[in-house]
Amino acid sequence: MKVIRYASLLLALALLATVTLNSAPQRPANNEKRIDALLARMTLAEKLGQLQQLDGEGNGTFRPEHPDLIRKGLLGSTLNVRGAKNTNQLQHVAMDESRLKIPVLFGFDVIHGYRTIFPIPLAEASSWDPASAERSTSIAAQEARDSGVRWTFAPMLDIARDPRWGRITEGAGEDPFLGAAFARARVRGFQGTDYSAPDKILACAKHWVAYGATEGGRDYNTTDMSENTLREIYFPPFKAAVDAGVGSVMSAFNDLNGVPASANPFTLTKVLRGEWKFDGFVVSDYTSVKELINHGLAADDQDAARLALNAGVDMEMVSRLFNQHGSQLLKEGKISQATIDEAVRRILRIKFRLGLFEHPYTDEAREKGSLLTASNRATARAIADRSMVLLKNERETLPLSKALHSIAVIGPLADDHRSPLGWWSGDGKPEDTVTPLTGIRAKVSPATKVSYAKGCDTQGDSTEGFAEAVALARDSDVAIVFVGESAEMVGEAASKSSLDLTGRQLDLVKAVHATGKPTIVVLINGRPLTVGWIVENTPAVLEAWMGGTEAGNAIADVLFGDVNPSGKLPVTWPRTVGQVPLYYNHMNTGRPPEANNRYTSKYLDVPWTPLFPFGYGLSYTQFKITNLQLSAKSVLPLRGNDTLAVTVDVENTGKRTGDEVVQLYIRDVTASMTRPVKELKGFKRVTLQPGEKIRLEFALKAEHLGFWNREMRFTVEPGKFKVMVGANSEDLIEATFEVQNGS
Ligand code: NOJ
Repeated sequence: MKVIRYASLLLALALLATVTLNSAPQRPANNEKRIDALLARMTLAEKLGQLQQLDGEGNGTFRPEHPDLIRKGLLGSTLNVRGAKNTNQLQHVAMDESRLKIPVLFGFDVIHGYRTIFPIPLAEASSWDPASAERSTSIAAQEARDSGVRWTFAPMLDIARDPRWGRITEGAGEDPFLGAAFARARVRGFQGTDYSAPDKILACAKHWVAYGATEGGRDYNTTDMSENTLREIYFPPFKAAVDAGVGSVMSAFNDLNGVPASANPFTLTKVLRGEWKFDGFVVSDYTSVKELINHGLAADDQDAARLALNAGVDMEMVSRLFNQHGSQLLKEGKISQATIDEAVRRILRIKFRLGLFEHPYTDEAREKGSLLTASNRATARAIADRSMVLLKNERETLPLSKALHSIAVIGPLADDHRSPLGWWSGDGKPEDTVTPLTGIRAKVSPATKVSYAKGCDTQGDSTEGFAEAVALARDSDVAIVFVGESAEMVGEAASKSSLDLTGRQLDLVKAVHATGKPTIVVLINGRPLTVGWIVENTPAVLEAWMGGTEAGNAIADVLFGDVNPSGKLPVTWPRTVGQVPLYYNHMNTGRPPEANNRYTSKYLDVPWTPLFPFGYGLSYTQFKITNLQLSAKSVLPLRGNDTLAVTVDVENTGKRTGDEVVQLYIRDVTASMTRPVKELKGFKRVTLQPGEKIRLEFALKAEHLGFWNREMRFTVEPGKFKVMVGANSEDLIEATFEVQNGS
């Protein structure tokens, strides 16, 4: 008896010790007390030190100056320093040698994977399956965390209506509702409910804000738009991220309505902190504080620091103006002690929430075994499977039989290891990537002859490889041509004035097609491309995007029918770059386009319609969406959780099991401000067996029907609304209802 009691006492003590040692981040009240205590002990230099983030050297290593700065308390965070060993080494300086032992926060761009690379975010958004994004970001978080990274500069939440902008690849496309759904999922994936957990990292909502609307699609360019457009189109993904608990936000490079985003008190303070109650910290984008001088807002370095700090930037990435000028600014009364203390408080608050003080180090033994595991690869493949969009499939060209006699695999991207990783590929390694050629070889029967010819490069004028490619196609049952963009053509500083295939790629497709052999085109790319000729002339086109480490296997899964494609475009595809910006949720204008009326809103030389509409994508089976019903034809103004139920029948009328993404759009027909012709307000992805029919229900609420009115208040106005449901933004059935007057 005694022994048992003694044992339980020991167990209780052990448990208590574990709880103390592994203590989760302190409760908020405790954190604030700890911050008060630290602030009381910090010198001004140490406070400014917490506001500084510096870049590492290539390959994850830190710079020679970092240890000394950290020892003196002059550096609070780094970017790009990674690897358990590197980060631990630097962290030991902070924890063992600095006066106040405030841990360093290690940041890195973990955008679509750390070592296991997932499809680019635009591709993941094509899955219309936020749960996939939550899975990929949680794996990315685990791998990054095991490599010493505690903070990712993701998710990128910029709405992009202009495919010339290279960074369209990093986001969820053109729609605020879809963007918000992916924002929530990605924040949850990276951070979980408690980002001090050993497999979670801090997320960063970027780039706040409207960076995706840079004029002409030219990176870093100016944006100028109404507050309504900001609030209705560009803010929603950020609001969703803040509501999901994102701990940090990055201020953007762009000028916004005359006040650059990194010195904009309206967005950084009024909206983010005031209206949304965000209590994390804001980091500037790379040298964007210093760039306030080029913008013409700041007279000099000191002025730039003043403007950014006073507007609400807390941490400065790479430029060092807060540190160099903070003390003088304080002396001259140009910034207040309270502003500096508040910025430090926000950063320390997140360091506490991260559990950094309790667990500053990374287990070096763990790192190796936890990256690029078979299970992480399998998830990457499953997500790539779901992200592909079938753009055309005439006479059931696809799927191909695995027992074909011979297949010609052609094109500059058919066996390229780098392009599937896209831009920002973390610590992903090209040598780990499964190329389409490898994926196809692994898929077909041993008797199938798979031959390969590159044909040409993605850039340049050489057609030397054409003859070999054409000969292979002639000798094969089918040709599969892989064209698109290589990794350096997408992402940051990768704006383009043309969306055509580069180099001689289109000529290669034409030459192969001219053999008369069935020619299937697979696109590997990070933005919509103008591929009208291909879509008109070849029988099957698959948008595979940049699919990550497992891209080749996933492409083969779809080409040979092990996976039925189910992705839908999260962005409109123009016919020609001259139509850009072209997006589905536009206003109607006073003269909507009409075929036989010249004086309507259209071009003389190109149809007004896109090549592919938002939400478009085919399947190897067919679906029918019918019987749209509303729970009421007339409703009192909806409030809070009041709902109007919208139901439809969805039937798989084809011969294969498949997924359909059923989309719901609304239109406020007449209002005190003009409203878009369609606005996505719901979507559901369902799996149906051949012949299976189900009834789907959507719930419309006030938040779906309202808009920001002329007084800048969010309101639902009485009047007529349309509800449209279908398989993409053009193929819809509709019904109407009325919101009544009255309270
Ligand atoms: C600049 C990019 O705009 C931003 O997205 C990124 O997080 C930083 N560089 C750090 O690499």
